[in-house]
Amino acid sequence: MTYTAKQTRQFYRGWDEFYAKSENEKLDFFKREDRLFDVIFAQQFDRPFLDYICQLSERVRQLARTKMGADKLRHLLPHKRCMLYFVQPSTRTFLSFLNACHILGLSVSESRGTSTSSEVKGESQEDTIRTFASYMDLIVARHPEAGFAEKTAWVLNQTDRPVPIINGGSGPDQHPTQALLDIYTLERSFKDIGGLDGKKIAMVGDLKRGRTVRSLSYLMKNYKDITLYFVSPDIFKMKPDILGFLDKHQIKYHQTDDFESVMPLVDAIYMTRIQDEYADDTSQESGTYPAFHFKASHLSMIQPHCALLHPLPRRYEIEVDVDPDPRAAYWGQERNGMWLRAALIAYIFRVDDDILREFA
Ligand code: NCD
Repeated sequence: MTYTAKQTRQFYRGWDEFYAKSENEKLDFFKREDRLFDVIFAQQFDRPFLDYICQLSERVRQLARTKMGADKLRHLLPHKRCMLYFVQPSTRTFLSFLNACHILGLSVSESRGTSTSSEVKGESQEDTIRTFASYMDLIVARHPEAGFAEKTAWVLNQTDRPVPIINGGSGPDQHPTQALLDIYTLERSFKDIGGLDGKKIAMVGDLKRGRTVRSLSYLMKNYKDITLYFVSPDIFKMKPDILGFLDKHQIKYHQTDDFESVMPLVDAIYMTRIQDEYADDTSQESGTYPAFHFKASHLSMIQPHCALLHPLPRRYEIEVDVDPDPRAAYWGQERNGMWLRAALIAYIFRVDDDILREFA
């Protein structure tokens, strides 16, 4: 029996009800035997997992330094195939996942737009996803729609090829693996001063549509005594869903448009770009918002240990002259993404023990 695109959508009944459930209610759905399987949103990660994945990333990085270690890693998953389905622009997330796969020996297929796929012939998203699962053992998806990765996992869980799905960015909603690599970067930056617990972090720029700062904010509930400073122009303030989450978990936050007043107070500054690709009406937005840029002249105002992060790409939010300063962590942060994503894939396919055993 064949289904037209419309019938297929009817065949997978219950998506709207599933999508409307709270993240807490969905946690088990994305697990297998008490372990993360699909990585869809940041609320899936608890503190033991976060600590473990940082430790594992560190081990992958150490092993990859030598030929012998790199060979070990490459022989972990040569029997697995990964699909990178990136239908929204991407440089870092795409390349770091691609290279994470290379590190572990997976082979990779990619699609970077719907224009060359049978979706132009009218194939439904559901059938397209099923097709990927027919050939692949893992799908990483970046899509402009908020619920796309989640829907992919939900669809495949109803088929005989329920391969794991990783959300590589779901519209202006979430970017959970970016949040993981941000945590890894922060923990590394603070390794000599007690880690992330007790720290003050400023998030700056477009907090309304920035999926990175949204996912990272969710993760703060796993750390003790965090204070957040949300620094943005009025039109790009953090949305009420995140503020409500922080209130519920008693995480302290302040909202301001005075960036310079926050600079001396914080242990980390997380800069973001204006996400104008999501603007319905750009006439409401004006210029480059220079009051929310970090300039070389600001380096004397921040603490000696303050870490400067940015998910990148940057436009003008951080002056290039800031790059040589040892507190500029963003180039290391993008490299951390490759180790972290390799660790995550190893974890999903349960070869993490083989990595840790090398250090026993
Ligand atoms: C971010 C993204 O795509 O959300 N980039 C990334 O994945 N490193 C941030 C951005 O595009 O501004």
